[in-house]
Amino acid sequence: MAALTLDTLDILTPDLYVERGYPHEEWRLLRRQAPVYWYQRDNCDPFWAITRHADIIAISRQPELFRSTQRLFVAINEPGVPPPEEALLRQLLNMNPPEHGEYRAVVSRRFTPAAVNRLAGHVQEIAAEMINGIADREECDFVTDVSAKLPLAVIAEMFGIPRSDWEMMFRLSNAMIGPTDPEYARGGTIMEGLQQARLEFFEYFSRLVADRRKNPRDDLATALANGRVNGGEIPGFELLSYFALLIIAGNETTRNATTGGLFAFIGHPDQWELLKRDSSLIRPAVEEIIRWTSPVIQFNRVATADTEIRGQKIRQGDVLALFYPSANRDEDVFEHPFQFDIKRQPNYHLAFGIAEHFCLGANLARLELQMIFREIAARMDRVELAGPIARMRSSFVGGIKHMPIRYRMRAKSA
Ligand code: HEM
Repeated sequence: MAALTLDTLDILTPDLYVERGYPHEEWRLLRRQAPVYWYQRDNCDPFWAITRHADIIAISRQPELFRSTQRLFVAINEPGVPPPEEALLRQLLNMNPPEHGEYRAVVSRRFTPAAVNRLAGHVQEIAAEMINGIADREECDFVTDVSAKLPLAVIAEMFGIPRSDWEMMFRLSNAMIGPTDPEYARGGTIMEGLQQARLEFFEYFSRLVADRRKNPRDDLATALANGRVNGGEIPGFELLSYFALLIIAGNETTRNATTGGLFAFIGHPDQWELLKRDSSLIRPAVEEIIRWTSPVIQFNRVATADTEIRGQKIRQGDVLALFYPSANRDEDVFEHPFQFDIKRQPNYHLAFGIAEHFCLGANLARLELQMIFREIAARMDRVELAGPIARMRSSFVGGIKHMPIRYRMRAKSA
C-alpha cells in the first residue's frame, strides 16, 4: 500500500469506512502533522478537520464563536444527497444559545443520573430478555438480534410507544441515519428516502402528541407534547423534530457501541476473561467500550468570526469537523491509546462530545451498555465470529450492520 501523506489521505469516503472501518492511521497522521487541517478534495466541500482532544474541547466550549448549524456533518458530494442547509429536522443539535438551553430543559430532567437510575431495573429486564431471545441457539446476528433491539426498546418504553410499533421505529431510524447505505435506503433518491422516512415519523408522532395532550401519562411523549419554550407551546416542526431526534440519537449510537464492544472483546479475549471474572469492572469497561468504539465519527461547527487555532487562520463561515474517535486515540491524553484496556482510569474520552451539546442520553447509554454487558459476561461462556462483519456506509456514524457470532450460553442469569 502507498505511504500515507497529508495530500492524499481520505477520511470521508463512506465506501472506505465499509471496507476498512475507521481511518485511525489517517487520523494519527493528522494529529501528528496537521491537527487543524484544511481538507480540500474533489469529492467534497472543503472543511477544517479537527483531530486533537484539546482542540475539540476548546471549540465545543465556545458555542458563540463556533456555532452548530443545519450542517451536522461533512460528507462527500453524491447525487441526490440533500445540501447541508436543507432542514430535515430542527432540533437541539442544530440550535444555539439561548434557544438551545430552553429546548434542552424541556426533557433534560428525564435524563439526569438519578432519573436514569430509576430505569435500571427495567433496562436490566429488557437486556435479559434480549439475551434470553438468543439463548436457545448457538449462532445469531448480534446486531439484529440484540444490540439494535435494546436501545430502541428502552427509548420506545420511555416514550410510551407500544411494542407493535418498535419494528417500524427501527426501520425509520435506520433510513434517517444511513440514507446512503443501500440496505437502509428507502428507494428513490437519497433525498426522497429521507423525506419519506421523516414523513412517516412525523405522522406517527403527530398522533402520539394528540393522544398525550388529551390523555397525559408519566412518559417522555407526554413531557414533550406538553413542553413549553419561551412561555409558549413548542412549534409543530420543532416538536416533531424533537421526537425524531430522541429516537434516532439513542438508537444507532448505543447499538454500535454494543456491537463494537463485543467485537472488541472477541479481538481481546484477555479483557473478556477479566470482565467475566470480575463484574465490578463493568463501569470502567463500559467507558472503555465507548472510547474504543466512538460511534459518532464527527459533528460540525461553523465559525462566526475570523479566528485562529494552532496558528491556522479560520475564516468566518468556515466549517470545522470534530472527529471524536481521533480525539479518543490522542497520544497526549491516553496512555497506550491503541490498547483496549477495560481497567483504564481515568478515561476522559469525548465520545459524547462536551459542553453545550454534551450528549443528553449519555447516562442512559451507559446504563444500557452496563446492563447488556453484565448479562452477556454472566451468561456467555464462549463467543467468536461466525462470519464477516458488515459495516455501515457512513462517515457520520460508525456502524456495524451485521455481526454473525457463535457462542455457548448458560441457561440462567448468574
Ligand atoms: C454510545 C452512545 C452515544 C453516543 C456515542 C452519543 C454521542 C453524542 C455526541 C458526540 C453528541 C454531541 C454532539 C455535539 O457536540 O454537537 C450527542 C448529543 C446528543 N445525544 Fe447522544 N450519544 C449516544 C447515545 C445517546 C442516547 C441513548 C440518547 C437518548 C436519547 C442520545 C441523545 C442525544 C441528544 C438529544 C443529543 C443532543 C444534545 C444537544 O444538542 O444538546 N444520545 N450524542
